[in-house]
Amino acid sequence: MAVQISPSILSADFARLADEAARVPNADWLHVDVMDNHFVPNLTLGLPVVEALLKATSTPIDCHLMIEDPDRWAPAYAEAGAGSVTIHAEAAKAPVRTLRQIRAAGARSGFALNPATAVEPYEDLLPEIDMLLLMTVEPGFGGQKFLDVVLPKIRRARELIAKHGGQVWLQVDGGVAADTIERCAEAGADVFVAGSAVYGAADPYTAIEHLRSLATT
Ligand code: DX5
Ligand code: ZN
Repeated sequence: MAVQISPSILSADFARLADEAARVPNADWLHVDVMDNHFVPNLTLGLPVVEALLKATSTPIDCHLMIEDPDRWAPAYAEAGAGSVTIHAEAAKAPVRTLRQIRAAGARSGFALNPATAVEPYEDLLPEIDMLLLMTVEPGFGGQKFLDVVLPKIRRARELIAKHGGQVWLQVDGGVAADTIERCAEAGADVFVAGSAVYGAADPYTAIEHLRSLATT
């Protein structure tokens, strides 16, 4: 699959989200980090802001739910029109049901693993998943250092995905930048979230194209 870049608006100006979305017309997705100050020690935004953003941009929205009760909330993000909705393994109590509800509402189903969460226990869930997200930092904040320790898990996840037909997208999120993206791509990732590397750059459009070319082998 072609490389996809999903800039995280966590590093954008929250007072000007529509303008910030318009600065990255070359993005494949807009990555929206929903944090509830319970699952992670940070608070960002929720459904009303996602609904407003959906009206303000034609770029598909990739919702990353870092919340304690994703089973309760994920379907609403899909019904609102998000193109992809990702729930965390560490938080979901009924992941199969929730992943199916996301798909039934017309979105791609995403399943995320924190750096210390192994992928093997979730192999049987792969048929329910459109995108597996491997966190390459502890979730909660932008601008953290990429965790190299996750690279073997990216390779392992790519093997398991191949074994199950190869349809699942493999996303990495956290510390993905010009100096780390090649390692992620080489290990098998194909969807790259980048917050500070895109919105911290003088020219986000060019930053995306640079990341895309580095990840394209
Ligand atoms: C962190 C978020 C990330 C964050 C990445 O918990 O899930 O999406 O925005 O930021 P960078 O790319 O700066 O590490
Ligand atoms: Zn994220």
